[in-house]
Amino acid sequence: MRILVTGGAGFMGSNFIRHMLARHADLQLVNFDKLTYAGNLENLRDVEDDSRYVFVRGDLADEAAVEALFGAHAFDAVVNYAAETHVDRSILDPKAFLFTDVIGTYHLLEAVKKHGVGRMVQVSTDEVFGSVEDGTFNEMSPFEPNSPYSASKAGGDHLCRAYAHTYGTPVIVTHSCNFYGPYQYPEKVIPLFITNLLEGKNVPVYGDGQQVREWIFTEDHCRAIEAVLEKGIPGEVYNIGTEERRPNLELTRLLLGLCGRDASFIEHVKDRPGHDRRYAVDASKIRRELGWAPEVSLEDGLAKTVEWYKTHEAWWKPLKSGAYLEYYKKQYVMR
Ligand code: DAU
Repeated sequence: MRILVTGGAGFMGSNFIRHMLARHADLQLVNFDKLTYAGNLENLRDVEDDSRYVFVRGDLADEAAVEALFGAHAFDAVVNYAAETHVDRSILDPKAFLFTDVIGTYHLLEAVKKHGVGRMVQVSTDEVFGSVEDGTFNEMSPFEPNSPYSASKAGGDHLCRAYAHTYGTPVIVTHSCNFYGPYQYPEKVIPLFITNLLEGKNVPVYGDGQQVREWIFTEDHCRAIEAVLEKGIPGEVYNIGTEERRPNLELTRLLLGLCGRDASFIEHVKDRPGHDRRYAVDASKIRRELGWAPEVSLEDGLAKTVEWYKTHEAWWKPLKSGAYLEYYKKQYVMR
């Protein structure tokens, strides 16, 4: 199997590459990544010398670069992890999100169609469904994106649907709940809070902290994408969820406990504009049809994650200085 993973230097993509190389001896894997602030080859240091793995630097929004990639390699499958993903950044500056998440997906779909690639998995988010007060989103729920980030992901996902419907392009879309685990860039709430607490800093809880998110440990998500890649039906959509739903304040208390800090480290700050109140995914289809189920509870996954950040200071410390600090200040000026 020859696989292209786009965005493989990011948090989820790099975990997926490591997962696939460990489980499939006969794999050839190309990682195509632009290396934005969130892409970090340190995430893949342990596999960079593997003869089955090749890294190519490039931008999905650059049509010629995508064409050159598909001209140089024959792929059996493509997994699209490349995306701008952080909601707060999309509120500050949406443009990059449109280029990568919409135009980039379009270039990939065109290449998959033109080169007859056997299948493409579009890794997407539950945020395209917007906020749900009660109950859950299923695969038929309407898209109601509320941030420039989720709108751009929705745009890419709509293109996937249209390509499958119009051209028979063998693309499958997944909508996952919130990921967490080792190597996640410390702007997302879990790694931000863990690293702040390890540094003895407060954690900024947006608004009343009663917003609910559903959480999946990275290894469980990797297994879900692997199942979709191997057994998913082209043209279908699969939600990925765990039912591990918690209000942000409850999540924060778990992190305080694991990091040995008390509630005085909680700082309530102004809310995120347009903040979605609750996400909740109905993942019965992937469980039923592909036999996937999550294996890691939130408590166990958080304990593993805190342990990883405690023992990998050299990885995250540099990420919280320089350009990160500039962004962080900007974000706070905005709120
Ligand atoms: O639902 C899946 C999505 O989850 C992914 O598609 C996105 O790429 C990913 O960024 C994530 O979106 P969220 O906005 O839910 O994740 P984030 O980690 O930014 O925030 C999680 C919750 O924590 C959210 O309710 C906002 C809150 N929060 C976040 C930050 C960064 C805080 O209270 N304080 C913070 O400093």
